[in-house]
Amino acid sequence: MRYKVGIVGAGMVGGTTAQRLAERNYADIVLLDIPAAEGVAKGKALDIQESGPIYGYETKLTGGSDHERLESCNIVVVTGGSPRKPGMSRDDLLLTNQGVMNEWGAAIKQYAPNAVVIVVTNPLDAMAHAMFNATGFPRERIIGMAGVLDSARFRTFIADELGVSVQDVTAFVLGGHGDQMVPLPRYSTVAGVPLPELLSDERIQALVDRTATGGAEIVNLLKSGSAFYAPSASVVAMVDSILLNQLRVLACAVYLDGEYGHHGIFLGVPVKLGSGGVRQIVSIDLSEGEKASLQKSADAVEELLQVMKMPAHS
Ligand code: 2OP
Repeated sequence: MRYKVGIVGAGMVGGTTAQRLAERNYADIVLLDIPAAEGVAKGKALDIQESGPIYGYETKLTGGSDHERLESCNIVVVTGGSPRKPGMSRDDLLLTNQGVMNEWGAAIKQYAPNAVVIVVTNPLDAMAHAMFNATGFPRERIIGMAGVLDSARFRTFIADELGVSVQDVTAFVLGGHGDQMVPLPRYSTVAGVPLPELLSDERIQALVDRTATGGAEIVNLLKSGSAFYAPSASVVAMVDSILLNQLRVLACAVYLDGEYGHHGIFLGVPVKLGSGGVRQIVSIDLSEGEKASLQKSADAVEELLQVMKMPAHS
């Protein structure tokens, strides 16, 4: 049996996710968008399907705009929403994209009631919360993609700085996917050696700052649109871990219910991903300074929830 993955939003993140996943050759894919962009969804699906004979995969792809195509998806990846433009913060996208979550959340609930939902739309933590409310799914099945991407950026910058392979660098990033995210240098290592033993505080801070503004760096370079290669690679790592039950421990935005001292809010923390979604929230000890940074990040997410009239603890 092949798995079925729905991808909502046939833009750059959605299309590239479809391509990467098709090449994995274990799940069929339905690519969806709004009616005005139905041709884009169909066209990208067909184009990727036609790469199969060359690349050597049997993945079936279909595209469209009708919600019922989500029928019996194992995972739905939600990338749809208004894109971020230069000078625009992730938070500016808030209310428009909340409407998108409400619409697709209702569709997922109706047609794929057992799916795990991976939310990619920004502002990430708030959109995951909107999707949680719209579907009413248990918290194990609503997961925001941010930490994998933020950690990958931090790993890239650490590896560049030290002239080592990215494969030997691990990095830990907690908190919301915003400028207040919390990269944790002492839990970030090169071949097991913690970062503070390898770099000065100033250099670490520079890499942390670059990571926190990593999305904006790409937006400013592209001029139109935002990052999609690393975001889609991040989504596919999560899909692999869930559908193939790899049980990888990855930083993801999940609904906290007391973990890390936070209640009723989506924040990025390390989780074990396997069949059915989040199998465990991994708790680690934080220093007082790290706790304060996480609180600041939570406060920034909470502000968005207030605007969306979805305060934490609700
Ligand atoms: C990023 O960080 C757009 O949130 C996305 O690149």
